[in-house]
Amino acid sequence: MILPGTIDDTSGGRIERAVAGLTAFTVARIIRGRRGGADSLVRGVSDNAKDLSRRDSASQGKRPARAHCERMPRLTLWLHLVSLAAYFGATLAFVLVMLPAVERIESHEERLRLLAAMLERLNPLLIGVLGVLVMTGAFSLTAYKARLRGEFFTRIGEPLTLKLILTFFFINGVTYVAFGVAHRIVRAVQWGDPVPPERLASMVRRMRAGSIVNLVLAGWIVWVALAIPAGAAAP
Ligand code: HEM
Repeated sequence: MILPGTIDDTSGGRIERAVAGLTAFTVARIIRGRRGGADSLVRGVSDNAKDLSRRDSASQGKRPARAHCERMPRLTLWLHLVSLAAYFGATLAFVLVMLPAVERIESHEERLRLLAAMLERLNPLLIGVLGVLVMTGAFSLTAYKARLRGEFFTRIGEPLTLKLILTFFFINGVTYVAFGVAHRIVRAVQWGDPVPPERLASMVRRMRAGSIVNLVLAGWIVWVALAIPAGAAAP
């Protein structure tokens, strides 16, 4: 939708394309990593990947063909943390910068128009980074499980279980804000449906409260994630 005087429609499309591109890139890297050396990935730790590559190249007299596998766990963790930072930053800016700025606008129509224009771009970003966060977490987890086998639960089971329970509520919370409320405002403006001032005020309240709860949950999840001992997956 093009709203005169605001950012044009192509910006929303660009965000969606960028998020889709990032996701496709991650998936392609994971698949390449698995094809190039499934055993290395399963071990999931770069030292083992280094050993394997050295052994292979020594026995076959060629350059380490599996060197890219060494970067997989790091790339996955990097994406995990960067998507978390993007979620946290965007939501914090939404609560502390965007909503107060929108609420200061006196005209109801103008307030609605600007809010819808912002949410049209924020929604795909939130859902996209949530997807990357969950996907990269699941990829790391698969490598951990394959590597630790029977020791998986004794080493990281307890904090991980709490983390996944909290993550369940976090995913629902983000989806509620993005699809349950924000998307309805965007759709109403796009379809020309009336949004009375009281209804808009109530939706803004729900988005603000939901975002604050989600930020608290995200902070709690990070606290729990940091309790997983460093090197828990090491031999
Ligand atoms: C399905 C969802 C998720 C799964 C399966 C998952 C799994 C994991 C795993 C296995 C690691 C260790 C990665 C490694 O060391 O290579 C990790 C790290 C981490 N995760 Fe998640 N995660 C999920 C969602 C989240 C969410 C929602 C947050 C925050 C809101 C989060 C925050 C972190 C942080 C901060 C680390 C780094 C911990 C450290 O390196 O000490 N994760 N996650």
